[in-house]
Amino acid sequence: MERRKFLKDALKAGVGMAVGLTIPEVASAKGAGKAPPLPWPYVKLDPKKVADKAYRGYYEHECCDGVFAAIITELQEKVGGPYLGLPLTMMWYGGGGVAGWGTICGTLNGAALIFNLTCKDFKPMIDVLCEWYQTTPLPTYVPCEGPYCKKPFPKSVSHSPLCHVSVQRWCKIATVYFGETVPYNSKKRSERCARLTATVAAKTVELLNAYHFEGFRPKKIKGKQKTKMDCRLCHEVTMKELS
Ligand code: HEC
Repeated sequence: MERRKFLKDALKAGVGMAVGLTIPEVASAKGAGKAPPLPWPYVKLDPKKVADKAYRGYYEHECCDGVFAAIITELQEKVGGPYLGLPLTMMWYGGGGVAGWGTICGTLNGAALIFNLTCKDFKPMIDVLCEWYQTTPLPTYVPCEGPYCKKPFPKSVSHSPLCHVSVQRWCKIATVYFGETVPYNSKKRSERCARLTATVAAKTVELLNAYHFEGFRPKKIKGKQKTKMDCRLCHEVTMKELS
């Protein structure tokens, strides 16, 4: 589609939804307010700016929405169009591994949606992010505000995309680091997740910039038995037995 027509259609869609229509109005506007097909346009974003926003966003609507809203508000401002139709709290449900169920880490869930909206290769992009997430000592972001401003914080390797596993592994390491028990419901653990939200938001933008502007092509990861998680986390088996 021609870019001008795309933006025109997109703008119509976005504006139609942004004015707060009632249900019958939305239903009758069917067609007129139809969202353009994916992927939607992406412009180069500043990972540092997005990270700062995501850090604050965590303390408003948790991890998943923190990543999502930090990036979407930038795209709303710089691209507009269909992005304007997305409610800023729509990913709040993802907090704590989906409403506290400890499943997929909310930061990954929020980022996955952004990849789906903006990349044809969204699945391998998600693979690259999850693989980085579960093998890297995190969080690396250090805030310039808040109760732990500029203070270093313990990092942990999650070995898993799961919220429960990621949080508990960090709590264990933090307990040794601070020399006192750091439980999952502590302020320190919240701060860790806020920093993680900022760290993952920045990484997501780095990957998007690389994909859209630097020719980066993500490599797909093949799963076993329908999962790409590290099997040894829950099963007492060696990788050799599994392959
Ligand atoms: C987060 C934990 C977790 C991870 C990670 C995980 N599994 Fe599982 N898996 C389970 C659970 C729980 C069951 C169900 C066990 C049961 O009910 O006996 C299961 C069941 C299975 C079964 C069926 C076993 C049976 O006896 O019927 C297979 C096969 C399996 N997993 C393979 C894998 C492989 C391969 C990987 C890695 C790519 C993997 N799993 C990663 C938790 C996990």
